[in-house]
Amino acid sequence: MTQVTIDRLGYQGDGIAQGPLYVPGTLPGETVTGTPDGQTLRDVRIDTPSSDRVKPPCVHAKSCGGCQLQHASDGFLADWKAGVVRNALLAHGIEAEIRPIETSPPLSRRRASFSARRTKKGALAGFHMKASDVVVSIPNCQLLHPDLTAALPMVEQLAVLGSSRKGELSVLVTKSEVGLDVAVTGGKPADTALRGALAKIADEHDLARLCWDDETLLRRRPYQIFGNARVTPPAGSFLQATAEGEAALQRAVLSIVDGATHVADLFSGSGTFALPIARTAAVHAVEGEKAMIAALNEGWRMAEGLRRVTCEARDLFRNPLLPEELKRFDAIVIDPPRAGAEAQVAEIASIRTPKVAHVSCNPVTFARDTATLLAAGYRLDWVQPVDQFRWSTHVELVASLSLDI
Ligand SMILES: C[S@@+](CC[C@H](N)C(=O)[O-])C[C@H]1O[C@@H](n2cnc3c(N)ncnc32)[C@H](O)[C@@H]1O
Repeated sequence: MTQVTIDRLGYQGDGIAQGPLYVPGTLPGETVTGTPDGQTLRDVRIDTPSSDRVKPPCVHAKSCGGCQLQHASDGFLADWKAGVVRNALLAHGIEAEIRPIETSPPLSRRRASFSARRTKKGALAGFHMKASDVVVSIPNCQLLHPDLTAALPMVEQLAVLGSSRKGELSVLVTKSEVGLDVAVTGGKPADTALRGALAKIADEHDLARLCWDDETLLRRRPYQIFGNARVTPPAGSFLQATAEGEAALQRAVLSIVDGATHVADLFSGSGTFALPIARTAAVHAVEGEKAMIAALNEGWRMAEGLRRVTCEARDLFRNPLLPEELKRFDAIVIDPPRAGAEAQVAEIASIRTPKVAHVSCNPVTFARDTATLLAAGYRLDWVQPVDQFRWSTHVELVASLSLDI
C-alpha cells in the first residue's frame, strides 16, 4: 500500500500525485492510500478528504461512466473549469478576463446517446460502466431531462426487437418541441416484420421521429426553436446539449455581434446562432454537413420577420472562406469542432473584421487559434465559460475578440 497526496486534477478528471501517479475519484489536497498499478493507484481509500468533497448526488455515480466528477462541489468545479480555460490561454502567454461560468442545472440534458443490449430477461439500456463496455441501468440519472429518463424502457423495447444477441444498439434520444426524436444505429437490418414492430413502438410512445439506420419513420416533424425559427435538425446531427447551455452561448454571441449588419456564421450547424442573429442582421451561414445547412435554410424560409440568410455547404478545413469573401462582414461567428479552425482563423487574421465571436468546446485549440488572432492585432475582450456537461471534465466557451477600425 502507498500513501500519496493529490497535487492537482488532470484534464481527464483523475487526481494526480507526484510521479505522476493517477488516482481516480480524488481531489487536490487529499491524502489517499492505495495499491500502485503502473501509473494508476487502485483500491483507493481517502485518508484526508478535501473540503470540496461532496456526497455524489446520483445513486449511479459509482458504477456509471457518464460522470467523472460527482464527488466535487459545484464551486470547485466552476473554479476548476475556469482554470482549464485560463491555463490553456496562459500556455500561449495570453491573459484574459474570464467571466463567471454558466452551468446548466441537473436534469437538463435534452439529448443522450444510450447503449442497449439484450439480456436473458429482455434488455438493458443505459450508459457504459467506467472504462468498460458493460451497460449499467440509470433510472435515477441526475443529468438527463425527465423525458429522456422516461424513454429508457422504450430504448429497451427497441433492443429486444432489433439488437443482435451479442451486439449493442446505440440509441440517440433528443427532446424536441413536439416529442422525442430517436435515431438508432447498430441494429439488425430492417425487414417488414421489424418495420411493423417499430411503427408500433413509435405509436405507443408517441415518438415524433424514429430513424433505424437509414430508414425514417416520421410521425411529426420534430423541431427545435432557434430565435424565431423552427428547425428540424437531421437525425443524429449536432445540437447543443442543454437548452440552458444553448441560451447562454446565444446570449454571449448576440452581445458580441450586437450592432453588426452583415454577419458570417462559420460552422453554423442547423442555425443555433445564425437564426437568432437574423432578427437584426443579414447572415451568411457556412457548414460542412449539407443536410444541416438545408435544415437551416428551410427553418429560415418558414420563419417570419428575419433578415436575409444565405447558406453554403463547404468544408472549412480544406476550403476556408478567403479574405475577399470575408471582408464584407462586420462580425464573424466561428464555432468549430474540437480540432479548432486553424485554416479558417489564418484567413480571418489577414482581414480586419471589427468583431469575432469565437465559440469553442476545446480550450486547447481555442487558445492556439486565439494566439493567431492576437498576433494579427485582435484584442481578447473577455471569455465566457459555459458548462453544459456538469460533473464531467468538458467545458465550452464564447470569446469576444475585436479590432479597433
Ligand atoms: C460544435 S458544432 C457547432 C454547430 C453550431 N454552431 C451549433 O451551435 O449548433 C461544429 C459544427 O462544425 C461542423 N463541421 C465539422 N467539420 C467541418 C468542416 N471541416 N467544415 C465545415 N463544417 C464542419 C459540424 O458539422 C458541426 O455542425
